[in-house]
Amino acid sequence: MSTRGHALVPARLGSVPAVLSRRGLLRGGSAFLGLAALAPALTACAGETPVPTTEEGRPLPIPPLLEPDEHGRFALTASTGTTEFLPGVPSETWGYNGAHLGPTLRLARGRTYEAQLTNDTDEETTFHWHGLLVPAHADGGPHHPIAPGETQTLTLTPDQPSATLWYHPHPHESTSDQVRRGLAGMLLLDDPDGHTPGSVPQGMAASPAEAPSASPEAASALPHEYGVDDIPLIIQDLRLTDDGELLGHNFTSEVGMLGETVLTNGMPDAVLTTDREVLRLRLLNGSLGRIYGLRLDSGAPLTVIGSDGGLLPEPVEADSLTLSPAERAEVIVAVPADGLTLVSRDPDLGNVSDPEGVGGEDEFTILRVRRDSPAEAEAGEEDGSGAGASADFRSALAALDLPDRLAELPDPVDAGQQRSFSLRGRQINGTTMDMDRIDAAMSSHEPEVWLLTNLDSSPHNFHIHNAQFRILDVGGRPPAPELAGWKDTVYTPPQEAMRIAVVMPHHEDDDGSIPYMYHCHLLLHEDDGMMGQFTVDAEPDAATGHGDH
Ligand code: C2O
Ligand code: CU
Ligand code: CU
Repeated sequence: MSTRGHALVPARLGSVPAVLSRRGLLRGGSAFLGLAALAPALTACAGETPVPTTEEGRPLPIPPLLEPDEHGRFALTASTGTTEFLPGVPSETWGYNGAHLGPTLRLARGRTYEAQLTNDTDEETTFHWHGLLVPAHADGGPHHPIAPGETQTLTLTPDQPSATLWYHPHPHESTSDQVRRGLAGMLLLDDPDGHTPGSVPQGMAASPAEAPSASPEAASALPHEYGVDDIPLIIQDLRLTDDGELLGHNFTSEVGMLGETVLTNGMPDAVLTTDREVLRLRLLNGSLGRIYGLRLDSGAPLTVIGSDGGLLPEPVEADSLTLSPAERAEVIVAVPADGLTLVSRDPDLGNVSDPEGVGGEDEFTILRVRRDSPAEAEAGEEDGSGAGASADFRSALAALDLPDRLAELPDPVDAGQQRSFSLRGRQINGTTMDMDRIDAAMSSHEPEVWLLTNLDSSPHNFHIHNAQFRILDVGGRPPAPELAGWKDTVYTPPQEAMRIAVVMPHHEDDDGSIPYMYHCHLLLHEDDGMMGQFTVDAEPDAATGHGDH
């Protein structure tokens, strides 16, 4: 008998006995039916209908750019609306400055912005800048709810390497629902001025704020025309009924929601038509719980150039890329004359006891790319060799004429205070989130080594606010090169320990009294309390959290 299912039943299930008994019944039944029969049975109960795909597909939407005005001002409004995922069937969705998802916010390193944030929904929300290093009062965590109808203004000055980041709500215990309905957007941080990073205080460790951005040569050699050859891809899954209702978590899955429909920039069955031979794809897993194994259907490698917090020192070839919720990667792909297909298949989940139950055996088409001038392109192509896809890719990469180094990364510091975080069920170190408890008091510019251990046989991941960290080792081995750059979220494979090097930046205008969060970014787990709080540079008695809540 499985003890795992019982040990991990989240507290909130206690109030839904019907679901529990159905789950118990199905688990018992699965001994006879076999696992293969389990998934269709559940689907039928939930009434989920995958959005049908067609030969021609539907055009990939490119989120509009939101660029601050000359005073650095920009406005985001969380609002409600309707979206047709199923043609002709409206679904109720939420979005920023629109009905679903949000514009791509484009900011520059070293400039100061004033954000005007409005909540036009009927629930409390927050605006969190995932991956951005900002003072805690501007971080948009659960201590900063914006009530329905309210507007808040905050200022922020990004200072860290150029990167592909994102923004999303972070209200206490209800992040899943708001992200699921569509509150999420990309945030591209550029460094057009070739900002010179500040110097490290005497005798202290460098934080990401003291690290350089991509080299200017790399930034200009890489595809960088937004929506033309530099393509944002927000990858999410969706559970939809045939009358357009959006469903939430599958309570039979340890990872929460696993939808049968994949949305790319909010669109099912997405197709991008391009006249470019080389594209830069900025990949964001914006899903609640699904982990993707991204790869090209042709078998050609992906050229990975960036991780969560910026560019890698040099391009890395990878056959596939596993992205857990909230992780990002930037890749370069060559588009052959007959197009390409980005798929998800066989994510590297590590030693998971039930891969099928956590979506590990599901396959999806994420994006089809078509060239709109195939005849002309074919002229310049050598044919016949079986290594066509690979040759395409090499010649495309060579044509970019990239510098040898994309970015300079300081060596991670394997020293300083050690902290351990064990992940089990919905708990970190045996406790759940308490808004009034500070779990760690950190000091800026002091290196720390965090030991992350997933004690379960199912997936978790780990995200730290106000941080870009580096992986020192995973199960005692050095990280794969595509994971060796700046990270703010990392997949924690079952039954393995990893060590990460963390250095917090200092923010002039932060008194350390408000905490930041670290948490599992599987949103079911996060909402169930798999989260802790830390302060940076708090006065000894100021670090009490928000006793007034
Ligand atoms: Cu993506 Cu605590 O956040
Ligand atoms: Cu975050
Ligand atoms: Cu988790």
